[in-house]
Amino acid sequence: MSDPASLPPPEFEIAPLEFEHLDQIESIERRSYPLPWSRTMFAGELVKSSSISLGAFGQGRLIGYLIVSRYVDAWHVMNVAVDSAWRRQGVATQLLEELFVRTEGTAERGYTLEVRPSNPSAISLYEKLGFRARGVRRGYYLDDHEDALIMWKDADEV
Ligand SMILES: CC(C)(COP(=O)(O)OP(=O)(O)OC[C@H]1O[C@@H](n2cnc3c(N)ncnc32)[C@H](O)[C@@H]1OP(=O)(O)O)[C@@H](O)C(=O)NCCC(=O)NCCS
Repeated sequence: MSDPASLPPPEFEIAPLEFEHLDQIESIERRSYPLPWSRTMFAGELVKSSSISLGAFGQGRLIGYLIVSRYVDAWHVMNVAVDSAWRRQGVATQLLEELFVRTEGTAERGYTLEVRPSNPSAISLYEKLGFRARGVRRGYYLDDHEDALIMWKDADEV
């Protein structure tokens, strides 16, 4: 039997999301969040010129996505999710790394996001990529009024 450590990393590629991916986005979204975004919210982001919407594609299908919006002088990470079968294989990391490349020189104040304190996997992902907690938004989440941790990554750390 081959040693798992010697197996090549799983192959996937990053490309812009299109309307044709909405069914697959919805399917991942519903399985990823207690309060999923609606199809209309995703469609709205896809047409916004101030948003960047990236998909990760493996074995011919969507396996993860990242939605980011431009707010004045910073990029706001709005949504990132990965199909459960593909988690812990670097997909979210690659999506965010691709964002940093695509926005190089345009992130004056850097990158920001909100995350649930009860989501240590996501917090660990963001910390690995240079985000740091810089505040709390009280009762931010509509379903259970959990606070949100506000994280920032400076542009010069890219
Ligand atoms: C959070 C999420 C996007 C991470 O996606 P992913 O592709 O599995 O992440 P990566 O493989 O790039 O992981 C990078 C790092 O994040 C951390 N991490 C990711 N998943 C983790 C887990 N289940 N437990 C602990 N740490 C985890 C680790 O530090 C990991 O590095 P390592 O594997 O070298 O230890 C994914 O778990 C997900 O879709 N969750 C549901 C939706 C969600 O919570 N989105 C974030 C909302 S703010």
